[in-house]
Parts: sequence; C-alpha cells; structure tokens
Amino acid sequence: MIQAPTSQSFQNSLINEDETEKQAPFRTIYCGDARSLPNEISPNSVDLIVTSPPYWRKRDYGIKGQIGQEKTSEDYVAAIISALGEWRRVLRPSGSVFLNIGDTYWQKSLQGIPSLVEASARRAGWILRNRIIWVKKGGMPDPVKDRLAGRHEYILHFAINGYYYDLFGYAERYSLGQKGANPGDVWEITSQRNMGKHLAPFPSEIVERVITLACPHSVCHKCGKPRRRIVKRTAELDISRPQARRALEIAKEKNLTPEHIAAIQATGISDAGKARLVQNGTDRNSEDVRKLAAEAKVILGGYFREFTFAKRKSCGWTDCECGAPFEPGVVLDPFMGTGTTLDVAERMGRSSIGIDLDVSQVREVS
Ligand SMILES: C[S@@+](CC[C@H](N)C(=O)[O-])C[C@H]1O[C@@H](n2cnc3c(N)ncnc32)[C@H](O)[C@@H]1O
Repeated sequence: MIQAPTSQSFQNSLINEDETEKQAPFRTIYCGDARSLPNEISPNSVDLIVTSPPYWRKRDYGIKGQIGQEKTSEDYVAAIISALGEWRRVLRPSGSVFLNIGDTYWQKSLQGIPSLVEASARRAGWILRNRIIWVKKGGMPDPVKDRLAGRHEYILHFAINGYYYDLFGYAERYSLGQKGANPGDVWEITSQRNMGKHLAPFPSEIVERVITLACPHSVCHKCGKPRRRIVKRTAELDISRPQARRALEIAKEKNLTPEHIAAIQATGISDAGKARLVQNGTDRNSEDVRKLAAEAKVILGGYFREFTFAKRKSCGWTDCECGAPFEPGVVLDPFMGTGTTLDVAERMGRSSIGIDLDVSQVREVS
C-alpha cells in the first residue's frame, strides 16, 4: 500500500460549494486485482467508482491476471460483472459506478460489448441509470476503408436505489446556453493523448463531470449518509421569454401575492389526473394551497405555467442526525492506470483510492 497525504489547494468556488468543516481527504493506492479488493477497503465506504477497464482484445498489458485478453467476449463480460459484484461490497447504498467502456470489432463484426455488459449487470441487480455517449473530439485517424471510423464510447451509470446525485450543481456548470437546463447524455470531450504503456487514459473532464454529478462533498463519518443539496424554486422567471414577461406583468397588475405563486408551484401544471401526482410528487397540498392556486390560475390564464418553471436556487445542504463530523466523499478507481481519477478527485477535495495490477504508471503526487 502506498499512501500520500493530499492538499486541498484546488478550491473552485462551484465544485466546493459545500464548505462543511471536514477531515482532510486521503489518497491511497493498492497493487491488486479489481475483482478482489483489499480488505482494508471496508464495506459501505466508497461513494463513487469511476473507471475505465481494459477493453476486450484491445491492449495486452502483459500482466498476469489482467482483464481484456479473454478468449471470448462472453468471458470478458463475465470478468467485468465479477468486478462489479466485488465493488458493490464496498459501495455505500448511496453510491454509483460510472464505467467507461468501448466496443471491439472481431472478425469484422462489432461485438456489442457495452450492451452485453448492460444486460448482465441488470440481471445482477444493478440499475442502469444512463448510457452516456462520449463523443471523442479530435480522435486518432482510422485507416479503415469499409466502415465509418469509431468516434464514440459509452459511460454507463450503474446504481443502487437512492444514489446521490447533484443534477443542479452539474447543470450550473455544464449546461451551456440554457443555464440550469438538463445538459443531456451526450458529452463532447477531446480525447487525451498519452505516452507510455497506457495509450488510453481517460480525459480528466470525464472524471470531473462524474464527480460533480455523483460524489458527495461531505459524508457523515458515523452513518455514511451524504449531505445532499437543497434546491428551492424561486419566483424569479427567465425574462428573456416574452411569455414570462407577460406573466410577471399580469401578476403585478392583479396584485398576486407570493403565496399565490408558491401555491401555483406546489400544485404544478395540472390539478387533474396523473399530472396531479406527477407535478408535486405528493398530491398532499392543503385545501388553502389548492384554493390560492385555482384563484391565481384564473387570473393568469395560460401564463400561470411560467411560474411552474421559475428558476431554482441552491439553498444549502442536508444535515445528519448523528451529530458526527463529516468527511469528504470517497472515489475509487479499480483500474487506475496513470491515476487520472485520483488526481481529479484530489483537485475536487474528495478522497481517492486507486487499484491496479501495475502501479508503475501512476503519476507522482506533487
Ligand atoms: C484503460 S487502462 C486505465 C487508464 C486510466 N483510466 C488512466 O486514466 O490512466 C486499464 C488499466 O487496467 C489495469 N488492469 C488490467 N487488468 C486488471 C485487473 N484485473 N485488475 C486491476 N487492474 C487491471 C491495467 O494495468 C491498466 O492500467
């Protein structure tokens, strides 16, 4: 085991918004097999696994026990599923796995490896939350003449129910153009060139995005519960939309109160049928709230909808009843390679654990 203390020098105001007093992050590296994690990593101790295993029949690392050189694609998929099973043991219930995986042409045909992994993982009880398409900008030239060059890979998000997710923080950072909108599952990221044995390090931006989305800043030291962002709707509208400007004019002319606006937001777009359940998720609005919403909807006509997509604001982070100190979220990369995941985790104030059969490629911590 190689251990190195980390500094918290990288203080980006957005990624470190949750400034809870907590222990300093750690960084630990083990030499070992991704399918049999060291006992030092306790059950329920990891918040996020982000990793890029060797793809099937792509690169021979020449190490005993390596994944990737199996005879058949089925054997390869079985190896990945066995690794996923082992990772589940150390993952907290609020944890996630983001697996960057590519496909392989074999005897002229694509093998559909990502779909095989998806199907087997679902059978093993994982929830597949997203199949993110990484569009590789600036990829290497491909000499092939009878098919199109491959320019994408997948990043599969597997989770267990109740996983931690900060879509608000992610959208603030990554939704270009329409601020706050859901930025979607296509990531255009320039491939990283690398020297040495590992010609396939993943770009740090992938890890940054994944950590922003799915690794808590702070976790209760005692029960392991993450602090989750509290987001509230405001009455603030996007005034670049003429409909929003008109909605505000009517609300002012007719003296609608903040309680009216809040009532519209609580009841949502429709009080009828299924939407009644979908819009506020509970259908537990009091009689008063429903009355205020109905009044406001009559006054505003169709413009009432504008208030249902008013801006949302981050108002803080949930606490934990334990009263125990908090510690930084823990990121694990079981196919660490050069250590991209660990470097990014450190910059973002998270603890990190790296595992690889060959730890000689890992970059020194400065
Ligand atoms: C695609 S590289 C990972 C690159 C890494 N994401 C980076 O940014 O450098 C795959 C790594 O898996 C390691 N590896 C192969 N089989 C393994 C196994 N069974 N357990 C752990 N590591 C393994 C290889 O040594 C290699 O470093």
